[in-house]
Amino acid sequence: MLYPVIMAGGNGSRLWPLSRQLNPKQFLPLADATLTMLQATLNRLSDLDVALPCLICNEQHRFLAAEQLRQMGMEQANILLEPVGRNTAPAIALAALQAIEQSDDPVLLVLAADHLIRDVDAFHRSIQVALPQAEAGKLVTFGIVPTHAETGYGYIEQGDALSDGGFTVSRFVEKPDEATAQQYLESGRYLWNSGMFLFKARRYLEELGYFRPDILDACRASLVNASQDMTFTRVDAEAFAACPDDSIDYAVMEKTDDAVVVPLDAGWSDIGAWSALWDVSDKDVDGNVVKGDVLNHSSRNSYIHADNRLVATVGVDDLVIVETKDAVLVAHKDRVQDVKKVVERLKAEG
Ligand code: GDD
Ligand code: MG
Repeated sequence: MLYPVIMAGGNGSRLWPLSRQLNPKQFLPLADATLTMLQATLNRLSDLDVALPCLICNEQHRFLAAEQLRQMGMEQANILLEPVGRNTAPAIALAALQAIEQSDDPVLLVLAADHLIRDVDAFHRSIQVALPQAEAGKLVTFGIVPTHAETGYGYIEQGDALSDGGFTVSRFVEKPDEATAQQYLESGRYLWNSGMFLFKARRYLEELGYFRPDILDACRASLVNASQDMTFTRVDAEAFAACPDDSIDYAVMEKTDDAVVVPLDAGWSDIGAWSALWDVSDKDVDGNVVKGDVLNHSSRNSYIHADNRLVATVGVDDLVIVETKDAVLVAHKDRVQDVKKVVERLKAEG
């Protein structure tokens, strides 16, 4: 039986103004009309032999998380609460440490709460290929065939094919610069890291303890005085605040000799920015994605979302327009990675 760990502590700032600090993208129905990103992630687990998931998120989102789990009939699921974000290496360590208390050495299926996967059967097939590798002590990641030189992803150089599926990892490079990403793309030897992992809890902790004992120690200390309140586990705020910040990709995956990659061809997208949402959404004949009360005249290939008011466009191409009660975003579709800069400025200016 797999033990799902759902990471839901990101802030999704590139999807502002829909994604907000108090209601970030994983808790919004972005790619699906009814299910939030988190709920779609949970839904994808049905039909698999899995335990109730462990959700790990920021303290301030506990009620959102609990309510969305309840709507999926998972009100008993464990919710681990972080007082501050320390990135994914500590988040997964907390979940792994808790998991080995409950069951000896479960295989963790680590998932991001904000990914879209169109072909659930293909996703399940990749998990089945990965399982024997994880059981044998490998740290398995799921690799996506890259389509462009994206710098926001990890790149995995595929090594030798393994007899029962998957490949060894010759090299794992997290978020290379543009020129390097381009070179990796052209070589045809690299896959994107999907950011989902399968490994035994103890094996992850062992590798983390080897490469980043400081993180492991801080996570252990954070659980000593953790408090339990219904399904919530609150880690010790002071101990966790002292934990270094790092992602699993830098802290473990770039360094370990025991990584395996299993290709995943399942219509995956991490919906990182508005352009990614445009990519995966149904479009009208002019290539527009339209949500809410929108009137387009001779506009093309745009993403237009109206929450409260009628939004009309005339003769514009490749725009993202997102209207909400208190903010309107107008951006060029090629520049939407920079939406997070707007959020940074808003924060800085209070
Ligand atoms: N609980 C918790 N705490 N979750 C977190 C934290 C944290 O401090 N920080 C991030 N997360 C969650 C996010 O909500 C998301 O679901 C997931 O962990 C990944 O974090 P991101 O911040 O979105 O990572 P990334 O997109 O920059 O990079 C990762 O994903 C890429 C694919 O989408 C890496 O794994 C890359 O290598 C990978 O290519
Ligand atoms: Mg991400």
